[in-house]
Amino acid sequence: MQSVKTIAVIGAGTMGSGISLTAAQSGIAAVQIDVSQAALDKAKAYHAKTVARAVEKQKMTQADADAALGRITYVTAMADAKHADWVVEAATENVELKKKIFREMQATFRSDVVLATNTSSISITDIASCVGADAPRVIGMHFFNPVPIMKLVEVIKGIATSEETTTRTIDLAKAMGKTPVPANDRAGFVSNRVLMPLINEAFYAWMDGVAKPEDIDQIMLLGCNFPMGPLRLADFIGLDVCHDIMMVLHRELGNPKFFPCPLLRQLVQAGRLGDKTGRGVYEYGKKG
Ligand code: CAA
Repeated sequence: MQSVKTIAVIGAGTMGSGISLTAAQSGIAAVQIDVSQAALDKAKAYHAKTVARAVEKQKMTQADADAALGRITYVTAMADAKHADWVVEAATENVELKKKIFREMQATFRSDVVLATNTSSISITDIASCVGADAPRVIGMHFFNPVPIMKLVEVIKGIATSEETTTRTIDLAKAMGKTPVPANDRAGFVSNRVLMPLINEAFYAWMDGVAKPEDIDQIMLLGCNFPMGPLRLADFIGLDVCHDIMMVLHRELGNPKFFPCPLLRQLVQAGRLGDKTGRGVYEYGKKG
């Protein structure tokens, strides 16, 4: 099987723009796709800023930075990426939207192209059900934020995913400088099955008055060597995202322990979604 030369990345949000930059930095051409030109512009600015920072810190030469940026193209139509040898979807976490995109992916790309999704909790088997006989080439390729920094790619096989698709996904993740680790297609896979209840419990600890948010985070930071406390991490991920993943775990696994903490639900209802709105558990000024 020949190596991947061009990867199409659908969705130019935080995850999609991180995936396209990571591919480009590892020598793979990336076609960044988004229906929104504004989202593409934002991704392009993020790419430029990230490599400029690396050059400034002397972690990358100007020539390598220019080469990486030169490998990324930005398009609004999927058809303009049809020459790609790999496609990873990183659109909004909505199963119907993902199925619509997967049907378009199936119609657009060559029949040997792997159809990967960066979903954080939606069933790979369910997504694959919309492409019928092409289900063996559908797989979960779950990156972590910030993608250029985080080493893990969780590789999730749906019930119909072929061994060949899995092997090729592991090879591509390695070629992108990541460490692929397999997980089965159960709600939340491994990462969010473990992480989200931990974050949820931190909200309970806050709600029950066990400690202030700053102290909960500081205890986990210093006591467990977390890079960020769980409440700070919830703001970073997005409280709406945390809430929605808990709802998926609750619905799919049928266990009341996964129901989102009332305080988490309340903050989401109030529009306090974390970094992206300028206020979540903590206040970040300006945006919201
Ligand atoms: N893009 C690219 N590079 C970034 C970046 C970004 N968005 N954010 C930070 N960096 C880089 C910085 O440039 C810096 O690089 P150098 O070491 O080369 O200087 C490096 O990362 C460290 O950054 P900072 O010094 O600014 O800050 P830090 O040391 O506090 O690290 C962090 C920031 C990497 C985000 C760290 O706090 C961390 O690892 N936090 C935990 C992140 C985490 O758990 N992510 C997973 C979330 S769950 C998920 O993504 C999946 C899901 O399904 C919900």
